Amino acid sequence: MCGIISAVSCKDVTAMLIDGLSRLEYRGYDSCGIAIYGKKNLRRVRSMKRVSDLSKQIIENSLYGCIGLAHTRWATHGMPSTHNAHPHFSNLDSGKPRIALVHNGIIENYDELRVKLQKSGYAFESQTDTEVLVHLINYNYDGDIFRTVQKVTKLLTGTYAIAVFCTDEPYRIIGSCKGAPLVLGIGDNENFLASDVLAISGKANEVIYLDDGDIVDIQCNNFLILDSYNVPVNRKKYPKSSFMGVVELGAYRHYMQKEIFEQPRAVADTLQEVNALSEDIFGIESIEIFRDIDSVLIIACGTSYYAGMTAKYWIESIAKIRVSVEIASEYRYRDSVVNPKSLVLVISQSGETSDTLSALKHSISLGMNYNMAICNSPTSAIVRECKLCYITRAGIEIGVASTKAFTTQLSVLFLLSITLAKNRSILSKDNEITFLKALRHLPAALSSVLDLEPLVISWANHFANKENALFLGRGMHYPIALEGALKMKEISYIHAEAYPAGELKHGPLALVTDNMPVVVVAPKDILLEKLKSNMQEVQARGGKLYVFADADSKINDDSIHLIRMPENYGMLSPILHTIPLQLLAYHTACIRGTDVDKPRNLAKSVTVE
Ligand code: G6P
Repeated sequence: MCGIISAVSCKDVTAMLIDGLSRLEYRGYDSCGIAIYGKKNLRRVRSMKRVSDLSKQIIENSLYGCIGLAHTRWATHGMPSTHNAHPHFSNLDSGKPRIALVHNGIIENYDELRVKLQKSGYAFESQTDTEVLVHLINYNYDGDIFRTVQKVTKLLTGTYAIAVFCTDEPYRIIGSCKGAPLVLGIGDNENFLASDVLAISGKANEVIYLDDGDIVDIQCNNFLILDSYNVPVNRKKYPKSSFMGVVELGAYRHYMQKEIFEQPRAVADTLQEVNALSEDIFGIESIEIFRDIDSVLIIACGTSYYAGMTAKYWIESIAKIRVSVEIASEYRYRDSVVNPKSLVLVISQSGETSDTLSALKHSISLGMNYNMAICNSPTSAIVRECKLCYITRAGIEIGVASTKAFTTQLSVLFLLSITLAKNRSILSKDNEITFLKALRHLPAALSSVLDLEPLVISWANHFANKENALFLGRGMHYPIALEGALKMKEISYIHAEAYPAGELKHGPLALVTDNMPVVVVAPKDILLEKLKSNMQEVQARGGKLYVFADADSKINDDSIHLIRMPENYGMLSPILHTIPLQLLAYHTACIRGTDVDKPRNLAKSVTVE
């Protein structure tokens, strides 16, 4: 999704802005641009290609200066094109640019604002909502860009994170945000604004996460933040150590591969403080809340949604609490039955996903005040909005297709299930000991599954020339089949569908031919015999079976492609079965030669609706 990086410095900022943009590339974008103020001139270059193309243009056009704004755009209003790429300019009557602006989010009332501006003589060169904003600032400019941005943001409906520069005051950049993240980075004789802390890690000594409605003035050696009531505020400063993530690729071919292999560590870090099952693992307030709730409503998108679906099986089975799982973009717009005794559980890797955040706010507006976030970003909007939270410690995830964030979410969701059961006094001591032991052993178990990679690569060769694939699972492994199919379509572009195996004969069986690989997640559980019948239904239609089974499962059929998992992991088996499916998608995509870390049309953090 869109990314912002801007800087005011006492030295040239072009190289650091390009570096910042490269760090934002993982979020997905379709165009990019940079504007620099130097030698009393405001100039920009924009591109439909990668950030590296901007570097070339910067050299060709001798662009350098101490103030700059840069942006990666993910099209919402207006096609991807150079004209629609940011920064946007608004000019003086002489045609010389005066205001430059980069923007994340969506200005919902842009149409009516555009009509007014057109009547005042403004001509638009793009189809973006952002260009409306830059002209609106120019139109309202009163000699003080800070005051002008303050005034103009009051006229906006929608979400925004912006950085604005005016040539009449070439020593400052103004930022503001509402419903989209903006971070202030404090450096040595330089200050930064960015949409993601990753863009300024390595440059800033400290960061401040701005609150909704904040407006900030950054200059070389100082900054000022006013809150939405125009009152100066001192927001908490976070030291370098809190945001310097390890982002080097090392020996891996892609970030996705690195992140798949980081899962044992990520899960261990996430569960590091869980030595015993204390009732306040989810915060002291959780004890009361968990006692009072009568149900759980899980809200999420994408991979996080599948984590929620898996949790439904665990929570209902272990803690005996009713769970419903909703896609955030559906929940926020439908009439649902309000239950103030339900725990609203939002799951999000980024903590920024617009639909999930809005769905959470919607639930609060309906009077559902018990809420909890499971999130990988401690300072995100979703975490800030929730009463309770558990932070997964997956580390920065660069690959667009989520891997380690998912397995850490699952680990926490299992922990939540047993905590809820204990809180309600329905967890036997034996089960508590067994489950905790299993959680502690999980990193080692994940490592053994990763050793299956060579076997999975041999399967990937069979999948690489296919255009369709079917994934089957039953019970708590059905969401894992869904996640496996999602990974496959996201990065290999093979059309992959997942079904609960019992549904096979109600439709998908019609698709099965000898050209249809069928992946089956088949652990040794009470549903295995049923699943074997489903597998026979596939074989009878000539379908080719690729089965992940447990070491001691009785599946002995030479016509089935079989990979045996190193150990049966009982209730936690969905976490282990995730790994080979990630590897299958990854290696299939590698063979097909796709852009694994940045699949087409997708973004890492979907911060717009
Ligand atoms: C995007 C990403 C997915 C992610 C989903 C939800 O679609 O590409 O990997 O699962 O957003 O994101 P969240 O940050 O809320 O977990």
